[in-house]
Amino acid sequence: MIEVNQLSMTYQLGGRSIAVLRDISLRIEAGQRVAVAGPSGSGKTSLLLLLSGLERPASGRIAVDGVDLASLDADGLADLRRDRIGIVFQSFHLLPSLSALDNAALPLQMAGRRDAREKARELLARVGLAERMHHYPGQLSGGEQQRVAIARALVHRPRLLLADEPTGNLDDQTAASVRELLFELNRELGTTLVLVTHDLDFAARCERVLRLHEGLLHEARADALPA
Ligand SMILES: Nc1ncnc2c1ncn2[C@@H]1O[C@H](COP(=O)(O)OP(=O)(O)O)[C@@H](O)[C@H]1O
Ligand SMILES: [Mg+2]
Repeated sequence: MIEVNQLSMTYQLGGRSIAVLRDISLRIEAGQRVAVAGPSGSGKTSLLLLLSGLERPASGRIAVDGVDLASLDADGLADLRRDRIGIVFQSFHLLPSLSALDNAALPLQMAGRRDAREKARELLARVGLAERMHHYPGQLSGGEQQRVAIARALVHRPRLLLADEPTGNLDDQTAASVRELLFELNRELGTTLVLVTHDLDFAARCERVLRLHEGLLHEARADALPA
């Protein structure tokens, strides 16, 4: 599902270049559940942005579902995301002028699906937002916005879900229902999960835990996570 070869990422800032990922190679099979851990600033978000084609690497190769991301232009990358990838951003990226329902329906609406709102309604109910569908993002709490973002990322039933701390702002009970939803999707549809998380319950239920540290990627066991 994902093949990463000798990937490096640097940000240019004020004439300096900051190396964030150094020569990372990684292979994730279809249907795998993978947690990505690591201290703040270790490059977890950057890795997800690269895997989704929202950032371009300094060097190295990324293939998603057999497609070399370097071979796609911006439109091609947008199509790939619309068809096969769901993304939950750390800062949600909801559109403020759309209701929760319309935000969640957006990926299907863009694909011209007539059942977009119906599917969005279903998912919003599953993340506990049945009573909040007509609220705008500005009228929702952080945790509620996060759940709208999760519904939006799942509404088109992507083959790959990239989620940046999807339970980061949620209380225990809501976090548990979001975990269940993601694992159900993984079981039922074989969705590959790549989850940046500090949530130990999450990590423990993933088949693999990857740890980023100083730009390097290590395979770690779930029970070794806090080290
Ligand atoms: N747009 C950017 N420009 C410059 N530096 C950045 C940018 N985004 C992130 N960084 C730096 O890259 C490093 C990794 O960031 P990030 O991938 O967000 O880490 P994490 O998600 O693990 O906290 C950090 O040191 C951060 O300051
Ligand atoms: Mg981050």
